[in-house]
Amino acid sequence: MAVENWVSRHLDELISFRRDLHAHPELLYDVDRTAGRVAQALHAAGVDEVATGIGRTGVAGVIRGATATSGRAIGLRADMDALPVSEETGAAWASTKPGLMHACGHDGHTTMLLGAARHLAENRTFDGTVVLIFQPAEEGGAGARAMIEDGLFERFPVDEVYGLHNKPNLPLGHFAIAPGPVMGSVDEIRIRVRGVGGHAAFPHNTVDPIPVTGAMIQALQTVVSRNLDPLKSAVVSITSLHGGDAFNVIPTEVALNGTVRTLDAQVRDMVENRLGAAVAGIASAFGCAADLDYVRHYPVTVNDADGTARAAEAAMAVAGTQQVATDLTPSLGGEDFAFMLEQVPGAIIFAGNGAGPGLHHPAYDFNDELIPWGCSYWTRLVGQRLPPKTNTEKQNP
Ligand code: NI
Repeated sequence: MAVENWVSRHLDELISFRRDLHAHPELLYDVDRTAGRVAQALHAAGVDEVATGIGRTGVAGVIRGATATSGRAIGLRADMDALPVSEETGAAWASTKPGLMHACGHDGHTTMLLGAARHLAENRTFDGTVVLIFQPAEEGGAGARAMIEDGLFERFPVDEVYGLHNKPNLPLGHFAIAPGPVMGSVDEIRIRVRGVGGHAAFPHNTVDPIPVTGAMIQALQTVVSRNLDPLKSAVVSITSLHGGDAFNVIPTEVALNGTVRTLDAQVRDMVENRLGAAVAGIASAFGCAADLDYVRHYPVTVNDADGTARAAEAAMAVAGTQQVATDLTPSLGGEDFAFMLEQVPGAIIFAGNGAGPGLHHPAYDFNDELIPWGCSYWTRLVGQRLPPKTNTEKQNP
Protein backbone atom coordinates (compact mmCIF):
# COMPACT_ATOMS: atom_id res chain seq x y z
CA MET A 1 0.00 0.00 0.00
CA ALA A 2 1.74 3.09 -1.26
CA VAL A 3 2.06 5.28 -4.26
CA GLU A 4 3.22 3.42 -7.32
CA ASN A 5 6.98 3.34 -7.95
CA TRP A 6 6.65 4.26 -11.60
CA VAL A 7 5.47 7.76 -10.69
CA SER A 8 8.83 8.70 -9.18
CA ARG A 9 10.53 8.20 -12.55
CA HIS A 10 8.27 10.81 -14.15
CA LEU A 11 7.66 13.07 -11.17
CA ASP A 12 10.04 15.93 -12.08
CA GLU A 13 8.56 16.08 -15.53
CA LEU A 14 5.00 16.02 -14.19
CA ILE A 15 5.76 18.80 -11.73
CA SER A 16 7.22 21.01 -14.49
CA PHE A 17 4.18 20.28 -16.62
CA ARG A 18 1.84 21.25 -13.78
CA ARG A 19 3.76 24.44 -13.07
CA ASP A 20 3.73 25.38 -16.74
CA LEU A 21 -0.07 25.03 -16.80
CA HIS A 22 -0.21 27.02 -13.58
CA ALA A 23 1.83 29.87 -15.10
CA HIS A 24 -0.53 29.99 -18.11
CA PRO A 25 -4.09 29.84 -16.75
CA GLU A 26 -7.00 30.00 -19.17
CA LEU A 27 -10.70 30.65 -18.52
CA LEU A 28 -13.77 28.58 -19.32
CA TYR A 29 -13.75 27.44 -22.96
CA ASP A 30 -10.70 29.52 -23.90
CA VAL A 31 -8.30 26.76 -22.89
CA ASP A 32 -6.61 26.44 -26.29
CA ARG A 33 -3.07 26.42 -25.00
CA THR A 34 -3.88 23.95 -22.21
CA ALA A 35 -5.87 21.66 -24.50
CA GLY A 36 -3.02 21.82 -27.02
CA ARG A 37 -0.49 20.79 -24.39
CA VAL A 38 -2.80 17.97 -23.25
CA ALA A 39 -3.20 16.64 -26.81
CA GLN A 40 0.56 16.86 -27.32
CA ALA A 41 1.23 14.97 -24.08
CA LEU A 42 -1.30 12.28 -25.02
CA HIS A 43 0.38 11.78 -28.40
CA ALA A 44 3.80 11.66 -26.73
CA ALA A 45 2.47 9.06 -24.27
CA GLY A 46 1.50 6.87 -27.22
CA VAL A 47 -2.24 6.69 -26.60
CA ASP A 48 -4.23 5.08 -29.42
CA GLU A 49 -6.54 7.95 -30.28
CA VAL A 50 -6.64 11.65 -29.46
CA ALA A 51 -9.72 13.74 -30.27
CA THR A 52 -9.76 17.51 -29.79
CA GLY A 53 -12.43 20.17 -30.06
CA ILE A 54 -15.14 18.16 -28.27
CA GLY A 55 -17.52 20.66 -26.65
CA ARG A 56 -15.40 23.41 -28.24
CA THR A 57 -12.08 22.77 -26.48
CA GLY A 58 -12.43 19.42 -24.71
CA VAL A 59 -9.97 16.61 -25.40
CA ALA A 60 -10.42 12.83 -25.25
CA GLY A 61 -7.74 10.17 -25.37
CA VAL A 62 -8.27 6.44 -25.83
CA ILE A 63 -5.97 3.71 -24.53
CA ARG A 64 -6.74 0.10 -25.39
CA GLY A 65 -5.56 -2.57 -23.00
CA ALA A 66 -3.49 -5.62 -23.91
CA THR A 67 -6.77 -7.51 -24.34
CA ALA A 68 -10.39 -6.51 -24.84
CA THR A 69 -12.17 -9.72 -23.85
CA SER A 70 -14.65 -8.02 -21.56
CA GLY A 71 -15.56 -5.30 -24.05
CA ARG A 72 -15.68 -2.91 -21.11
CA ALA A 73 -14.60 0.73 -21.05
CA ILE A 74 -14.17 3.26 -18.27
CA GLY A 75 -13.88 7.05 -18.44
CA LEU A 76 -11.50 9.08 -16.29
CA ARG A 77 -12.13 12.80 -16.22
CA ALA A 78 -10.04 15.88 -15.41
CA ASP A 79 -10.86 19.58 -15.77
CA MET A 80 -8.56 22.16 -17.41
CA ASP A 81 -9.85 25.69 -16.72
CA ALA A 82 -8.72 28.39 -14.29
CA LEU A 83 -10.50 31.25 -12.49
CA PRO A 84 -10.72 35.05 -12.65
CA VAL A 85 -8.70 35.47 -9.43
CA SER A 86 -5.53 37.57 -8.95
CA GLU A 87 -2.84 35.24 -7.69
CA GLU A 88 -1.08 35.93 -4.39
CA THR A 89 0.99 32.78 -3.95
CA GLY A 90 4.32 34.43 -4.71
CA ALA A 91 5.35 31.11 -6.31
CA ALA A 92 8.07 31.07 -8.96
CA TRP A 93 5.51 29.44 -11.27
CA ALA A 94 2.77 31.99 -10.45
CA SER A 95 0.32 33.08 -13.11
CA THR A 96 1.78 35.21 -15.89
CA LYS A 97 -1.71 36.52 -16.70
CA PRO A 98 -2.98 39.33 -14.48
CA GLY A 99 -6.35 38.55 -12.93
CA LEU A 100 -6.32 34.86 -13.88
CA MET A 101 -5.09 31.91 -11.88
CA HIS A 102 -5.42 28.18 -11.31
CA ALA A 103 -7.10 28.65 -7.93
CA CYS A 104 -8.96 25.31 -7.96
CA GLY A 105 -6.11 22.94 -8.82
CA HIS A 106 -7.36 21.95 -12.26
CA ASP A 107 -3.74 22.27 -13.41
CA GLY A 108 -2.96 19.42 -11.00
CA HIS A 109 -5.99 17.34 -12.01
CA THR A 110 -4.97 17.53 -15.67
CA THR A 111 -1.35 16.65 -14.84
CA MET A 112 -2.27 13.62 -12.70
CA LEU A 113 -4.50 12.18 -15.41
CA LEU A 114 -1.76 12.68 -18.01
CA GLY A 115 0.74 10.96 -15.70
CA ALA A 116 -1.59 7.99 -15.40
CA ALA A 117 -2.19 8.01 -19.17
CA ARG A 118 1.50 7.71 -19.81
CA HIS A 119 1.84 4.70 -17.53
CA LEU A 120 -1.30 3.02 -18.88
CA ALA A 121 -0.20 3.51 -22.49
CA GLU A 122 3.27 2.13 -21.75
CA ASN A 123 2.08 -0.96 -19.91
CA ARG A 124 -1.45 -1.77 -21.08
CA THR A 125 -1.88 -4.33 -18.31
CA PHE A 126 -5.64 -4.14 -18.40
CA ASP A 127 -8.52 -5.70 -20.32
CA GLY A 128 -10.75 -3.19 -22.09
CA THR A 129 -10.56 0.48 -22.95
CA VAL A 130 -9.71 3.60 -20.95
CA VAL A 131 -11.12 6.92 -22.14
CA LEU A 132 -9.34 9.98 -20.75
CA ILE A 133 -11.57 13.02 -20.68
CA PHE A 134 -10.17 16.57 -20.32
CA GLN A 135 -12.98 19.07 -20.07
CA PRO A 136 -13.05 22.86 -20.39
CA ALA A 137 -15.29 25.29 -18.51
CA GLU A 138 -15.86 23.48 -15.22
CA GLU A 139 -16.00 26.82 -13.39
CA GLY A 140 -19.52 27.88 -14.34
CA GLY A 141 -19.49 27.15 -18.07
CA ALA A 142 -20.95 23.62 -18.05
CA GLY A 143 -18.08 22.26 -20.15
CA ALA A 144 -19.01 18.69 -19.21
CA ARG A 145 -22.48 19.21 -20.66
CA ALA A 146 -20.96 20.76 -23.79
CA MET A 147 -18.77 17.68 -24.30
CA ILE A 148 -21.74 15.35 -23.76
CA GLU A 149 -23.91 17.34 -26.18
CA ASP A 150 -21.10 17.18 -28.68
CA GLY A 151 -21.30 13.37 -28.62
CA LEU A 152 -18.57 12.49 -26.11
CA PHE A 153 -20.24 9.29 -24.90
CA GLU A 154 -21.51 8.27 -28.36
CA ARG A 155 -18.03 8.55 -29.82
CA PHE A 156 -16.33 7.10 -26.75
CA PRO A 157 -18.85 4.92 -24.89
CA VAL A 158 -17.93 4.03 -21.32
CA ASP A 159 -19.59 1.77 -18.73
CA GLU A 160 -18.39 3.84 -15.76
CA VAL A 161 -16.94 7.31 -15.29
CA TYR A 162 -14.74 8.64 -12.49
CA GLY A 163 -13.55 12.07 -11.37
CA LEU A 164 -11.07 13.36 -8.79
CA HIS A 165 -10.86 16.74 -7.07
CA ASN A 166 -8.20 17.91 -4.65
CA LYS A 167 -9.36 18.94 -1.19
CA PRO A 168 -7.45 21.55 0.82
CA ASN A 169 -7.06 20.77 4.52
CA LEU A 170 -7.57 17.07 4.00
CA PRO A 171 -4.08 15.68 4.74
CA LEU A 172 -1.88 14.59 1.86
CA GLY A 173 -2.30 10.86 1.19
CA HIS A 174 -5.88 10.89 2.43
CA PHE A 175 -8.98 10.42 0.28
CA ALA A 176 -12.65 11.11 1.00
CA ILE A 177 -15.79 9.96 -0.76
CA ALA A 178 -19.42 9.03 -0.05
CA PRO A 179 -22.25 7.43 -1.99
CA GLY A 180 -25.23 9.56 -3.02
CA PRO A 181 -25.25 13.35 -3.30
CA VAL A 182 -21.82 14.86 -2.63
CA MET A 183 -22.08 18.29 -4.24
CA GLY A 184 -25.06 20.59 -4.61
CA SER A 185 -27.12 21.72 -7.56
CA VAL A 186 -26.11 25.24 -8.57
CA ASP A 187 -28.83 27.58 -9.78
CA GLU A 188 -29.05 31.33 -10.27
CA ILE A 189 -32.03 33.52 -9.48
CA ARG A 190 -32.69 36.92 -11.01
CA ILE A 191 -35.69 38.84 -9.68
CA ARG A 192 -36.98 42.12 -11.09
CA VAL A 193 -39.56 44.05 -9.04
CA ARG A 194 -41.27 46.77 -11.08
CA GLY A 195 -43.42 49.50 -9.58
CA VAL A 196 -44.15 53.10 -10.49
CA GLY A 197 -41.45 55.61 -9.61
CA GLY A 198 -41.89 59.20 -8.52
CA HIS A 199 -41.21 61.86 -5.91
CA ALA A 200 -40.19 60.44 -2.52
CA ALA A 201 -42.43 62.97 -0.76
CA PHE A 202 -45.54 61.63 -2.53
CA PRO A 203 -45.42 57.85 -2.15
CA HIS A 204 -49.18 57.59 -2.62
CA ASN A 205 -48.67 58.59 -6.24
CA THR A 206 -46.17 55.77 -6.79
CA VAL A 207 -45.93 52.02 -6.39
CA ASP A 208 -42.71 51.81 -4.41
CA PRO A 209 -40.73 48.63 -5.22
CA ILE A 210 -38.34 49.09 -2.25
CA PRO A 211 -40.61 47.86 0.60
CA VAL A 212 -41.88 45.11 -1.72
CA THR A 213 -38.29 43.97 -2.12
CA GLY A 214 -37.83 43.99 1.67
CA ALA A 215 -40.89 41.79 2.15
CA MET A 216 -39.71 39.53 -0.64
CA ILE A 217 -36.25 38.97 0.85
CA GLN A 218 -37.85 37.97 4.16
CA ALA A 219 -40.34 35.66 2.49
CA LEU A 220 -37.76 33.94 0.28
CA GLN A 221 -35.90 32.78 3.39
CA THR A 222 -39.04 31.01 4.57
CA VAL A 223 -38.93 28.68 1.56
CA VAL A 224 -36.05 26.88 3.28
CA SER A 225 -37.22 27.36 6.88
CA ARG A 226 -40.94 26.59 6.34
CA ASN A 227 -41.29 24.52 3.15
CA LEU A 228 -38.29 22.20 3.33
CA ASP A 229 -38.15 19.01 5.40
CA PRO A 230 -35.79 20.06 8.21
CA LEU A 231 -33.75 16.90 7.67
CA LYS A 232 -32.95 17.95 4.10
CA SER A 233 -30.68 20.72 2.82
CA ALA A 234 -31.04 23.82 0.69
CA VAL A 235 -29.63 27.31 0.58
CA VAL A 236 -31.27 30.42 -0.82
CA SER A 237 -28.80 33.32 -0.81
CA ILE A 238 -29.65 36.77 -2.12
CA THR A 239 -26.26 38.12 -3.10
CA SER A 240 -26.96 41.41 -4.82
CA LEU A 241 -29.58 44.11 -4.52
CA HIS A 242 -29.81 47.18 -6.74
CA GLY A 243 -32.44 49.92 -6.91
CA GLY A 244 -32.61 53.68 -6.93
CA ASP A 245 -30.07 56.46 -7.46
CA ALA A 246 -31.27 59.47 -5.44
CA PHE A 247 -32.41 60.15 -1.88
CA ASN A 248 -35.58 61.87 -3.01
CA VAL A 249 -36.72 59.61 -5.85
CA ILE A 250 -38.71 56.39 -5.55
CA PRO A 251 -37.24 54.08 -8.18
CA THR A 252 -39.23 52.20 -10.78
CA GLU A 253 -37.36 48.96 -10.49
CA VAL A 254 -35.31 46.90 -8.04
CA ALA A 255 -33.10 44.02 -9.12
CA LEU A 256 -32.25 41.10 -6.84
CA ASN A 257 -29.85 38.29 -7.70
CA GLY A 258 -28.82 35.21 -5.82
CA THR A 259 -28.21 31.49 -5.83
CA VAL A 260 -30.03 28.32 -4.81
CA ARG A 261 -28.19 25.13 -3.79
CA THR A 262 -29.75 21.77 -2.99
CA LEU A 263 -28.68 18.13 -2.66
CA ASP A 264 -31.78 16.57 -4.15
CA ALA A 265 -33.64 16.96 -7.46
CA GLN A 266 -37.08 17.06 -5.77
CA VAL A 267 -35.95 19.71 -3.30
CA ARG A 268 -34.60 21.69 -6.23
CA ASP A 269 -38.00 21.57 -7.99
CA MET A 270 -39.79 22.51 -4.78
CA VAL A 271 -37.54 25.53 -4.13
CA GLU A 272 -37.94 26.74 -7.71
CA ASN A 273 -41.75 26.47 -7.48
CA ARG A 274 -42.06 28.09 -4.06
CA LEU A 275 -39.72 30.97 -5.00
CA GLY A 276 -41.83 31.63 -8.09
CA ALA A 277 -45.04 31.64 -6.03
CA ALA A 278 -43.56 33.88 -3.34
CA VAL A 279 -42.22 36.43 -5.82
CA ALA A 280 -45.51 36.62 -7.74
CA GLY A 281 -47.72 36.60 -4.63
CA ILE A 282 -45.82 39.29 -2.73
CA ALA A 283 -45.57 41.56 -5.74
CA SER A 284 -49.29 41.22 -6.32
CA ALA A 285 -50.12 41.92 -2.66
CA PHE A 286 -48.35 45.28 -3.04
CA GLY A 287 -49.79 46.04 -6.48
CA CYS A 288 -46.40 45.61 -8.15
CA ALA A 289 -45.16 43.44 -10.99
CA ALA A 290 -42.26 41.05 -10.51
CA ASP A 291 -40.65 38.22 -12.34
CA LEU A 292 -38.27 35.49 -11.42
CA ASP A 293 -35.77 34.15 -13.91
CA TYR A 294 -34.63 30.82 -12.43
CA VAL A 295 -31.54 29.57 -14.27
CA ARG A 296 -30.47 25.98 -13.69
CA HIS A 297 -26.69 25.70 -13.94
CA TYR A 298 -25.39 22.39 -12.50
CA PRO A 299 -27.40 19.41 -11.24
CA VAL A 300 -26.68 17.65 -7.94
CA THR A 301 -23.50 15.56 -8.15
CA VAL A 302 -24.63 12.07 -7.22
CA ASN A 303 -22.10 9.30 -6.65
CA ASP A 304 -23.36 5.87 -7.67
CA ALA A 305 -23.17 3.39 -4.76
CA ASP A 306 -21.15 0.77 -6.68
CA GLY A 307 -18.94 3.39 -8.27
CA THR A 308 -18.24 4.83 -4.83
CA ALA A 309 -17.28 1.43 -3.46
CA ARG A 310 -14.98 0.79 -6.44
CA ALA A 311 -13.34 4.22 -6.15
CA ALA A 312 -12.85 3.73 -2.41
CA GLU A 313 -11.25 0.30 -3.02
CA ALA A 314 -8.76 1.81 -5.45
CA ALA A 315 -7.94 4.63 -3.03
CA MET A 316 -7.51 2.12 -0.20
CA ALA A 317 -5.16 0.05 -2.35
CA VAL A 318 -3.00 3.17 -2.66
CA ALA A 319 -3.42 4.91 0.70
CA GLY A 320 -4.56 2.17 3.08
CA THR A 321 -8.00 1.77 4.63
CA GLN A 322 -7.22 4.17 7.48
CA GLN A 323 -6.65 7.06 5.09
CA VAL A 324 -9.79 6.71 3.02
CA ALA A 325 -12.96 8.16 4.52
CA THR A 326 -16.17 6.83 2.98
CA ASP A 327 -18.45 9.20 4.90
CA LEU A 328 -17.56 12.49 3.21
CA THR A 329 -19.95 15.25 4.30
CA PRO A 330 -21.73 16.61 1.21
CA SER A 331 -21.07 20.21 0.24
CA LEU A 332 -23.39 22.74 -1.37
CA GLY A 333 -20.60 23.81 -3.70
CA GLY A 334 -21.18 22.67 -7.27
CA GLU A 335 -19.33 20.37 -9.66
CA ASP A 336 -19.80 20.15 -13.40
CA PHE A 337 -18.93 16.42 -13.34
CA ALA A 338 -22.57 16.04 -12.19
CA PHE A 339 -23.60 16.09 -15.88
CA MET A 340 -21.39 13.08 -16.63
CA LEU A 341 -22.70 11.19 -13.60
CA GLU A 342 -26.25 11.80 -14.89
CA GLN A 343 -25.30 9.88 -18.06
CA VAL A 344 -23.00 7.16 -16.76
CA PRO A 345 -22.67 5.62 -13.27
CA GLY A 346 -19.50 6.42 -11.41
CA ALA A 347 -18.12 8.60 -8.66
CA ILE A 348 -15.96 11.58 -7.82
CA ILE A 349 -13.39 11.21 -5.07
CA PHE A 350 -11.58 13.95 -3.13
CA ALA A 351 -7.85 13.74 -2.50
CA GLY A 352 -6.05 15.60 0.27
CA ASN A 353 -4.12 18.70 -0.83
CA GLY A 354 -2.72 19.20 2.69
CA ALA A 355 -2.96 22.30 4.90
CA GLY A 356 -3.30 25.66 3.22
CA PRO A 357 -5.72 28.18 1.73
CA GLY A 358 -9.01 26.87 0.41
CA LEU A 359 -10.14 26.49 -3.19
CA HIS A 360 -10.65 29.75 -5.11
CA HIS A 361 -8.47 31.67 -2.61
CA PRO A 362 -5.76 33.91 -4.18
CA ALA A 363 -3.06 32.17 -2.10
CA TYR A 364 -4.23 28.63 -2.95
CA ASP A 365 -1.92 26.35 -4.92
CA PHE A 366 -2.20 22.74 -5.97
CA ASN A 367 0.22 20.64 -3.92
CA ASP A 368 2.70 18.90 -6.23
CA GLU A 369 3.14 16.18 -3.60
CA LEU A 370 -0.40 15.07 -4.43
CA ILE A 371 0.68 14.09 -7.96
CA PRO A 372 1.98 10.60 -7.01
CA TRP A 373 -1.20 9.89 -5.03
CA GLY A 374 -3.49 10.95 -7.84
CA CYS A 375 -1.57 9.13 -10.57
CA SER A 376 -1.48 5.97 -8.45
CA TYR A 377 -5.20 6.21 -7.72
CA TRP A 378 -6.02 6.40 -11.43
CA THR A 379 -3.86 3.45 -12.44
CA ARG A 380 -5.08 1.29 -9.52
CA LEU A 381 -8.65 2.09 -10.43
CA VAL A 382 -8.05 0.95 -14.01
CA GLY A 383 -6.31 -2.20 -12.79
CA GLN A 384 -9.26 -3.05 -10.56
CA ARG A 385 -12.12 -2.08 -12.91
CA LEU A 386 -10.50 -3.57 -16.03
CA PRO A 387 -8.51 -6.47 -14.53
CA PRO A 388 -5.97 -8.00 -16.91
CA LYS A 389 -6.78 -11.44 -18.27
CA THR A 390 -4.43 -14.14 -17.00
CA ASN A 391 -2.56 -16.39 -19.44
CA THR A 392 -4.85 -19.31 -18.57
CA GLU A 393 -7.90 -17.28 -19.45
CA LYS A 394 -6.30 -16.23 -22.70
CA GLN A 395 -5.50 -19.84 -23.64
CA ASN A 396 -8.95 -21.13 -22.76
CA PRO A 397 -11.42 -18.57 -23.93
NI1 NI B 1 -12.50 22.74 -9.11
